[in-house]
Amino acid sequence: MIAKKLAAEKAVEYIQDGMVVGLGSGSTATWAIKALGEKVNAGLHIQCVASSVASENLAKQYGISLVDFSALSDIDITIDGADEVDAQCNLIKGGGGALLREKILAYNSRQFIVVVDDSKLVHTLGKFPLPVEIVPFAAELTLKQLRNLGCETSIRQKDGKNFVTDNGNLIADCFFNQIEVPELLNINILLIPGVVEGGLFLHPKVNRVIVGHADGSLHFMKGDKKE
Ligand code: 5RP
Repeated sequence: MIAKKLAAEKAVEYIQDGMVVGLGSGSTATWAIKALGEKVNAGLHIQCVASSVASENLAKQYGISLVDFSALSDIDITIDGADEVDAQCNLIKGGGGALLREKILAYNSRQFIVVVDDSKLVHTLGKFPLPVEIVPFAAELTLKQLRNLGCETSIRQKDGKNFVTDNGNLIADCFFNQIEVPELLNINILLIPGVVEGGLFLHPKVNRVIVGHADGSLHFMKGDKKE
């Protein structure tokens, strides 16, 4: 817990007055939202856009001012967690099912800061099942096409029912075990009709990766501390 909290709080140090900030989802992003909330209560003026209903509700509790996706033309910084980070800083995201909005934020932000504890670091992506958001009405056909890419996959379940994303879609969790060429897999996934978005976030869009450790230390896997 301390490792995630430290990484998230370090990322919040990059937020300045007047910025438009993307809020990630998950337990690490939650620490960032809490830290931002404290800064807002202390007088920081920012506008935020949330990647999930859960993050939006949390931000509201802290009195953080929120804007809708449709009203945005620019995002300064997005802070978000990840499920896996490989040695090149490619990511698997979407463990919480918020990958579509998370990817839109990451893609459109001047800076995308990833905050993780060191348990998320891997040599090669793929042990964590890759989440892929798919349209519900063609789920079986889309699963078949995903399996053709070399994975085992099924629709994510929650409380005995299909998990439904904030966008009304389903999540196919794809067990690849080893993703040797994430760039190629990402393209092949996005080419399947019925796929809305995939959970591979590729390194060119990742500006900083801040890693927290249980002993209270931090390291920057990508990005300079002083920038
Ligand atoms: C949600 C995500 C999260 O960032 C990811 O699952 C990591 O979560 P946590 O910080 O709880 O470990 O992608 O869709």
